[in-house]
Amino acid sequence: MASLVVFDSTYGNTEIVARAISQALAAHGPVRTLRVNQVESGHLDGVTLVVVGSPTHAFRPSPGTQAWLANLPAGRLEGVRVAAFDTRVDIGGKPLPSVMARWFGFAAPAIEKRLLRLGGNLAGPAEGFVVATKLGPLQDGETDRARAWARTLPRS
Ligand SMILES: Cc1cc2nc3c(=O)[nH]c(=O)nc-3n(C[C@H](O)[C@H](O)[C@H](O)COP(=O)(O)O)c2cc1C
Repeated sequence: MASLVVFDSTYGNTEIVARAISQALAAHGPVRTLRVNQVESGHLDGVTLVVVGSPTHAFRPSPGTQAWLANLPAGRLEGVRVAAFDTRVDIGGKPLPSVMARWFGFAAPAIEKRLLRLGGNLAGPAEGFVVATKLGPLQDGETDRARAWARTLPRS
């Protein structure tokens, strides 16, 4: 299995999650980990698993992630296993943000939808990893949870 992990990250937290995911996938074959603005079309050649992660910005993927996904040609991920993740802020049960997040969502489901539209086969359900504040850090245990999530992708 050859994997490509694509991430965007403003404050470094999504990058930490992406690298934890890559570390777990490395047990199954070669892994390339690239920031979304570094990905070129050829990087997808020969790849059998693509994992895409973004911080949640205004309930959606980051602008860079949206632009990259929008520019991939139809069918580019045909036959490729795909999975999406995001980072999101801890809303700590505050009523208004909780309701808004439930209504408007997070980045990962939107990424997953686009990956499937491009022809990808779902390797595992979209997942979110929580940061304590907008700047981070990741909550305790989230990198371990990211590794565990990644370990389910090759065989699910
Ligand atoms: C412009 C902006 C909009 C954001 N909007 C949301 C949001 O809608 N929902 C959310 O959970 N977090 C939101 N956040 C917090 C980000 O999810 C958080 O900064 C990100 O997970 C940190 O990841 P990074 O260090 O990789 O940038 C927003 C942050 C920024 C900068």
